[in-house]
Amino acid sequence: MGIFRRIAGVAGSLCLFWAALDATAADTKAPWWKHALVYEIYPRSFGDSNGDGVGDLNGINAHLDDLEKLGVDAIWIAPMYPSPQADFGYDISDYQAIDPQYGTMADFDRLQQAAKQRHIHVILDMVMNHTSDHHAWFVESASSRNNPKSDWYVWNDGIPADTAHLSAVQRRNIHDGKAPPNNWESMFGGSAWQWVPARQQFYYHRFYIQQPDLNWRNPDVEKAMFGAIRFWLDRGVDGFRLDAISVLFEDTELRNDPERPGTNAQGEPNLNYLYSDKLPEVHGVMRRLRALVDSYPGQRVLIGETYEPNIKLLDEWYGTKEAPQLQLPMNLQLGFGWQASFDATWFRKRLQESQQVHGQPLLVVDNHDNPRSIDRFGDGTHDVERAKVVAAALLTSRAVALTYYGAPIGMTTATPTRVEDVRDPVGVTGWPKDKGRDGERTPMQWTSGAQAGFSTSPKTWLPVNPNHATVNVEDEWKQPESLLNWHRQLIALRRDNPALRDGAMTFLDNDNPNVLVYRREGTRPVLVMLNFSGSAQPVPKRLMQGKIRTLAASEDSLREVATLDEASLPAYSAWVVTSD
Ligand code: NOJ
Repeated sequence: MGIFRRIAGVAGSLCLFWAALDATAADTKAPWWKHALVYEIYPRSFGDSNGDGVGDLNGINAHLDDLEKLGVDAIWIAPMYPSPQADFGYDISDYQAIDPQYGTMADFDRLQQAAKQRHIHVILDMVMNHTSDHHAWFVESASSRNNPKSDWYVWNDGIPADTAHLSAVQRRNIHDGKAPPNNWESMFGGSAWQWVPARQQFYYHRFYIQQPDLNWRNPDVEKAMFGAIRFWLDRGVDGFRLDAISVLFEDTELRNDPERPGTNAQGEPNLNYLYSDKLPEVHGVMRRLRALVDSYPGQRVLIGETYEPNIKLLDEWYGTKEAPQLQLPMNLQLGFGWQASFDATWFRKRLQESQQVHGQPLLVVDNHDNPRSIDRFGDGTHDVERAKVVAAALLTSRAVALTYYGAPIGMTTATPTRVEDVRDPVGVTGWPKDKGRDGERTPMQWTSGAQAGFSTSPKTWLPVNPNHATVNVEDEWKQPESLLNWHRQLIALRRDNPALRDGAMTFLDNDNPNVLVYRREGTRPVLVMLNFSGSAQPVPKRLMQGKIRTLAASEDSLREVATLDEASLPAYSAWVVTSD
């Protein structure tokens, strides 16, 4: 979806190579998350245990064996707290409970215990920027101007409706003679301000109207949110994925964001979020939050939703050694940058840059907000071959890898074809330019049977993709060459092979427009060769002398090759070798 793909630029050539510092050191004391494969679960869509057509916690529990078999180290569960589901859980009405449609607290405890038995860590989604408008905090805050929580959200009187130079978005949002205080737009379209007659004031919402932004300048807000975080840390969760953290703070003067050329899917001017995104105060919150999670035993981890246009800005989210912030801010540049394409040069540049951060990199190519990577990087004919190359890049780099349910089997994006079928509200307001995010959220495809084994109900919350007849877990486990078994093989390899686990990345043959090559260093280096082109390519000269051993090859013909001399890489292939 367009709005989440707003990152574009490319960092200049930073030559820091911090990564090299821990190049060959045996990383035996590394925290569990440092080489992890994290698997994102969208709970509505993963497994439905009670036949209501919506996934639930017991449905996740029922499929843990598959995740263990795949080699998953941690699951990140998208919000499963009570919510009116305006944004399918990202509008939380109670931070310390489970939404009844997903189960009970006892179900959660059982899930956590069952995951731990399988060495799978549990990471929750924490939405700190906003609550639901049904949250008791907001209900109280909205009730009057002088209640104890009156300042917990971002309230403003607005400005006279006849003020000169109002933006079109402001002009469309006039109430009782007042216009919103500035031109800020919601990420989901329209003005970011909503009028509340009881207060005769506007409140600010970066996302849907039902998601009022908390006022992080009020210390009570931080106290309350950290309290909710403690609640889950006390329950034993291994960490959090922090939603929308870059927009926690807004300019105190509420200055207009400058306009950029062009319009968004809703037809409104694009803005440069100078005064509503990435204000420096957010880093203070991150530092205090890190201190909080570090005060708990057991290597709890903070993962950030950090869409940044370049690596230098991404690096800021790690903080410093003395004042650390997030262990794992997401690098979304490789997967979702504006110019992201299935191209050796793109992948080389972004992978090289991904190493230029102070901490451990985390790469993401799929999530619940963007069309699936198999479609974005596919050409409609060689989608699975290309997906194998992308998976190889993700899983043989030095970064923590984050995958999304369905990606390892090659689930495709199933965007609704009629506006009346759309469930994601932004797909309704943005239709047909932005059809929303339903396409990447369809039910998990476990089998070729009824409802893909997701649910016993024929009425699932989103339709099951008919391609479950061939794209499904059960069948793919049985096919040695499947995308699923390819993932499983690479995940095992990166866990067991010391060079793939810890070794620095040395990029080779850097001008090659077709083949991306890198070596993972170690006493026994490993060579990764990825052919992004549609034709066979010669293996670059002098990469590895003597006899080689194939650790993984996406094409059968490569498995028996004994040396790299004269070898060639079939179209869209991935080959991982070491010396014999
Ligand atoms: C980012 C989440 O990934 C997205 O799904 C959600 O709509 C927004 N944040 C608002 O919480």
